[in-house]
Amino acid sequence: MTHQVRAVVARGKGAPVSLETIVVPDPGPGEALVKIEACGVCHTDLHYREGGINDDFPFLLGHEAAGIVESVGEGVTDVAPGDFVILNWRAVCGQCRACLRGRPWYCFNTHNAKQKMTLLDGTELSPALGIGAFAEKTLVAAGQCTKVDPTASAAAAGLLGCGVMAGIGAAINTGNVGRGDSVAVIGCGGVGAAAIAGANLAGAAKVIAVDIDDRKLATAEKLGATHTVNSRNADAVEAIRELTGGHGADVVIEAVGRPETYQQAFYARDLAGTVVLVGVPTPEMKLELPLLDVFGRGGALKSSWYGDCLPSRDFPMLIDLYLQGRLDLDAFVTETIALDEVEKAFERMHGGDVLRSVVVL
Ligand SMILES: NC(=O)c1ccc[n+]([C@@H]2O[C@H](COP(=O)([O-])OP(=O)(O)OC[C@H]3O[C@@H](n4cnc5c(N)ncnc54)[C@H](O)[C@@H]3O)[C@@H](O)[C@H]2O)c1
Ligand SMILES: [Zn+2]
Ligand SMILES: [Zn+2]
Repeated sequence: MTHQVRAVVARGKGAPVSLETIVVPDPGPGEALVKIEACGVCHTDLHYREGGINDDFPFLLGHEAAGIVESVGEGVTDVAPGDFVILNWRAVCGQCRACLRGRPWYCFNTHNAKQKMTLLDGTELSPALGIGAFAEKTLVAAGQCTKVDPTASAAAAGLLGCGVMAGIGAAINTGNVGRGDSVAVIGCGGVGAAAIAGANLAGAAKVIAVDIDDRKLATAEKLGATHTVNSRNADAVEAIRELTGGHGADVVIEAVGRPETYQQAFYARDLAGTVVLVGVPTPEMKLELPLLDVFGRGGALKSSWYGDCLPSRDFPMLIDLYLQGRLDLDAFVTETIALDEVEKAFERMHGGDVLRSVVVL
């Protein structure tokens, strides 16, 4: 059997997205069909639409989602129809060299559904990050579904599926922020704001938010930033050093994805401190640093892929903290919108007006 549902499709480079009817197959072995309840609009969806990821148009966009499992294919035991799940783009394989070494958060062979979703004329769709959740229903690998407490709001929970997890994980997993640490976050959009919340959860003593937009700094304060720096008016490195006794922060998280902000992160960190790059650069970007400074300043220069998260470990834990009032996921939901408003949400994202617009179905 197949299902015809409404979904947001990007048909060509730079062209506005359109609402279309697509065909979703019933789940085969190892797959799950999920009825989507909410899906956040992430910068990566816009990158797909602009052809910045690859040329496999048409794309089925959306990948920060939560919903209810409708049916599962043969051999699926971890989730069952009726489960409330967050979709992830790291369904660990258990068999690649990273998994076998006990480091599944790096899994190099993650799963997606094998069967294709299509347009009505049979054209195969490429789901964004193997998910494609700006749709009434989507087909994923069962391992992409992580069951969490169903009393959580779907709009808030879905955000853990990408940007918010990437930010929180950059602080707690990759940066290994601990009690008493000083942390600076450069770029306080959805990802950076989540890194601030993560640093706070981990017990950081000082959390410095840096952005060029005062609106973002105001949200950062709500999420636990103890100090804010508008780097349009001030030198970010000097300001962070001043706020940390002249030394620099123990951990600096770069959440913009640009060479100049990476360089700020590099020099705004204390000797033997850690830099975490969670912002995603574009292919033409280059960075030049004196090698003696790389050596002489010591410490660790790390990248954070999806916050080095392990969905089965991190999603239920973070949802529990949310339900206990210790992690304000609702603060990331600037607005809820309908399925046909994704294009408008891209514009608002571009203008810096939102942390997250979330499609609610
Ligand atoms: N590593 C991962 O797994 C992962 C996952 C999701 C997103 N990302 C990446 O994280 C980055 C941030 O994503 P987002 O959704 O928060 O984007 P966003 O557009 O909401 O936020 C970017 C923020 O950076 C600020 N900014 C821009 N230039 C700046 C500068 N020179 N100095 C200081 N601040 C500056 C903007 O004002 C904005 O607040 C993107 O590159 C995105 O692709 C990475
Ligand atoms: Zn693996
Ligand atoms: Zn994303």
